[in-house]
Amino acid sequence: MGVALLTQVSRRCFRHAIPLAVLSLLLLYLCARSFRVVSGCRSWARSCNPEGPPPVQVRRQSGPLEAPKWKEPPCEGPQGVLGRVMEPFRASLNPEGDVALSQYLAGWRALVRFLTPLGSIFAFATDEASAKVTALEARVHGPEAAHYSSLAAMAAWERRAGLLERPGVAPRDPARSSGSRTLLLLHRALRWSQLCLHRVAAATPGGPDAGVQCGDAYRTALAPHHPWLVRQAARLAFLAFPGRGRWLGLACPGAGEAEARAALARAAATLEAVYNRTQGLLAERGLLGLA
Ligand SMILES: *[C@@H]1O[C@H](CO)[C@@H](O)[C@H](O)[C@H]1NC(C)=O
Repeated sequence: MGVALLTQVSRRCFRHAIPLAVLSLLLLYLCARSFRVVSGCRSWARSCNPEGPPPVQVRRQSGPLEAPKWKEPPCEGPQGVLGRVMEPFRASLNPEGDVALSQYLAGWRALVRFLTPLGSIFAFATDEASAKVTALEARVHGPEAAHYSSLAAMAAWERRAGLLERPGVAPRDPARSSGSRTLLLLHRALRWSQLCLHRVAAATPGGPDAGVQCGDAYRTALAPHHPWLVRQAARLAFLAFPGRGRWLGLACPGAGEAEARAALARAAATLEAVYNRTQGLLAERGLLGLA
């Protein structure tokens, strides 16, 4: 009896200990991350992103004498950072009013590539997005590929096959969530990226800095769907957010500030068009409420 009680008590402790341990680990991990951000990358020095392109200073609008001797490919062209994001996202908007999934995912891959050199701050968003893109790609190229050509086809098939989660109920194993739910999570992250890009592009000198603006966008688009701990980590991350110059330099290396801002604004508009169409399609099918 004593032993049974003891086993029961220890089992109960153990049950509580696991989530607690996971929580502490997560906290540690997030702290380590923000610490690295705050201590190591304050100046957004090259060493922070050994794989990423070096930080490029945005060339101030200046006379023709200071024009670069070599010409960069335009950033919106097929080889440009923004061009590679915009081209597949535009192509995902197919003439039938649907969203082509393989193009949508290709757009996301390019978007993650663009955001990654902005620093470990984005890791909380981009790591998650990459995992979801990979999960959805597995379906687009998997044995049921025929049903995963577009958003409408996927939603119809998953409903028919009984694969959809019940609205508001998170799946037990997030790794096995339906394609529609995975897309919904990407869709929310796309909203955040779009708002953030738009605000960085539209900001006036002397206005709130990029961190404050992307933090606002986060609170609008993603925070309502994130647990408390992640929201706190995000709040810290926005304190050490890269400045507008670095954004513009990464988006359009070698371009003038006005040119870079205009290009970033057009990229944000492309993302908005994709967001709008996806939002409409998900809403028509009652899929915005999947947890
Ligand atoms: C997206 O939808 C909003 C609200 O309906 C609208 O104001 C905006 O112009 C649309 N944007 C694009 C790029 O279609």
